[in-house]
Amino acid sequence: MLAAEYEAVAGHGRQRGVTMCRHLSKYAPIFFLLALFGLIFLLRNIHTLENLKCHTASTLFQLQKSIHTAFAQEGPLPPYHNHTFCSHLGLEPSPDEALEERYLLGSIAWPQLPARAAPALLRQTSDPVHSLFAVLPSKGPREWHTGDQLEALVQMHDFQGRPKRYGGDFLVARLHSPELGAGVAGRVVDHLNGFYSALFPLLWVGMAQVEITMVHSSEAVAVLQRLREQRPDRVFFKSLFRSGYLSETTMCNMCLLPDSQQLKQPQEPLCNFTDLHTGEPWFCLKPKLLSCDSRVNHAKGGYQKNLITNKEALLFQSGVNIKVVVHASGPDRIDVLPKKLDGPELENSSIKTEPVKYNPSGYYYQGSWRPSGGTPARQFNDSLSITQCLAGKAIHMYGDSTARQWFEYLNAFVPDIKEFNLHSPKNVGPYMAVDSKHNILLKYRCHGPPIRFSTVSASELRYVANELDGLPGGPHTVVVLSIWAHFSTFPVEVYIRRMRHIRRALVRLLDRGPGTLVVLRSANLQALDQEVSLYNSDWFSLQLDGVLRPMFAGLGVVFVDAWEMTLAHHLPHNLHPPPAIIKNMIDLFLSHVCPAKKKKKKG
Ligand SMILES: *[C@@H]1O[C@H](CO)[C@@H](O)[C@H](O)[C@H]1NC(C)=O
Ligand SMILES: *[C@@H]1O[C@H](CO)[C@@H](O)[C@H](O)[C@H]1NC(C)=O
Ligand SMILES: *[C@@H]1O[C@H](CO)[C@@H](O)[C@H](O)[C@H]1NC(C)=O
Ligand SMILES: *[C@@H]1O[C@H](CO)[C@@H](O)[C@H](O)[C@H]1NC(C)=O
Repeated sequence: MLAAEYEAVAGHGRQRGVTMCRHLSKYAPIFFLLALFGLIFLLRNIHTLENLKCHTASTLFQLQKSIHTAFAQEGPLPPYHNHTFCSHLGLEPSPDEALEERYLLGSIAWPQLPARAAPALLRQTSDPVHSLFAVLPSKGPREWHTGDQLEALVQMHDFQGRPKRYGGDFLVARLHSPELGAGVAGRVVDHLNGFYSALFPLLWVGMAQVEITMVHSSEAVAVLQRLREQRPDRVFFKSLFRSGYLSETTMCNMCLLPDSQQLKQPQEPLCNFTDLHTGEPWFCLKPKLLSCDSRVNHAKGGYQKNLITNKEALLFQSGVNIKVVVHASGPDRIDVLPKKLDGPELENSSIKTEPVKYNPSGYYYQGSWRPSGGTPARQFNDSLSITQCLAGKAIHMYGDSTARQWFEYLNAFVPDIKEFNLHSPKNVGPYMAVDSKHNILLKYRCHGPPIRFSTVSASELRYVANELDGLPGGPHTVVVLSIWAHFSTFPVEVYIRRMRHIRRALVRLLDRGPGTLVVLRSANLQALDQEVSLYNSDWFSLQLDGVLRPMFAGLGVVFVDAWEMTLAHHLPHNLHPPPAIIKNMIDLFLSHVCPAKKKKKKG
């Protein structure tokens, strides 16, 4: 079925001959991974395989074969990325993992600026105010029904009003209806010639309005890309070393090795805090008088300034070219009618005319998130329903402050869940809350470095993969992971490596404790100005998100799509989404912890 879908997509891409490869590349790693996991599963369980009917196995192998064929159709392997910035450290990737990394990096490759475009003068860069979009078809009447797909065509212009001739602008799109409390994220396809398509599924009856926002110009993205590869030190870290009356603070980072160009003198002595289990690298400059063993804590050091030139700074102006809406050349809203009762003929004709179908992970209606497919979201409006849902469960949350937000929400909302005072520093944790009456345990712990929290005790600085190895797992165990924001200053390889270590630990956990529920919360959009953009732009988050999903696809992990949930919502983007969005995330989370019992079929 998946292969058929893939074929349909691939066939369509060839027909159009345009840039549908962005679609394909999005899906390709998923298929590849599905096959990979299928294969690993088969090989690991080869003894149980004898009990399986032959055709099951052969279907999986066929699937894998068809996927490799599908990749071959896509042309040569993505280029090999030279490993920089300590990305060769950590556990050695298996050949499959190394290949996966290549596909992952290929799948998120962003269009490069044409050589003639750099260095760009501001007036030649993308200007959202001069740019336009039109809902298609732009001429003639058209009736819209739910189930249809809406396409808006965007044409970008520069500050002089001239059409852009190359792609790479970072646009986001949503379709919404304030009256209905409805909203859905759109999918943007870059045609690489200054035109972009935004695709939206029509999911509700009534008014629907298109909103296109330019997050960054292509020229700005090029700057971000350079910073990511060349300035992973732009957020730096420090540690306090102390023994008796002596104390010293030194600079730390994932890479302080001579080849990372972060050391003033190449031979400066270092403390090597590389994790023995995962091999995750971490280094500090060695204190002059104290030993490396005397490390007391870890903290954010600060943000490097003067990262960009004055000319480049013009590409990052709030209200000018950071998150500014693009206007419509005509009407930007449509009226959606109920689904037509299609005859077979109509169905046939719609298949021919519809472009590639875009399936969002859900949409808002009356302010509530409705996930597409899978478990329908229940609403947990009162603390009793949450208590009943969580009774008997131990929920382990790991990650950055966006995971902490979930802990805080449940801790504040459910009076029976009482926080246990671990004397942890504010906003850092670890945290623990219990409801001993209902046997609920709620825990939060931040992920290992790079973590930009104020001050984490060295003894509490743990890697998620190692923590997962310490859980027995089972049907009473729930794991929540939200790990993204602190990786945006590093090359994507660093994130892939971290996720690979976590994935290995998750595979072990799910083997050891079948029935363990694992929930992965993805990155969300946030408020951007010039400064935030250089360290934490949504573009970095989007790229991390692009590798996260395929890496965990096929593992039986539940995704909470925070990206779409913040993009589709009417409230402003925020690193810590507002309570209305968190409630929807928690509703979705709890819907998976305790799915609605299936109604008995009548008769
Ligand atoms: C990558 O490294 C190889 C040798 O290891 C070198 O020949 C090649 O030029 C490098 N490529 C880039 C893009 O730096
Ligand atoms: C740091 O320690 C790890 C683990 O002991 C070791 O594999 C690695 O080679 C060390 N790195 C440096 C630069 O000393
Ligand atoms: C639908 O289209 C297919 C191929 O284009 C054709 O074989 C089939 O007869 C059509 N069905 C109907 C009901 O028109
Ligand atoms: C929860 O609250 C929302 C909004 O107030 C309401 O629409 C919904 O029906 C409530 N759900 C339940 C199960 O009480």
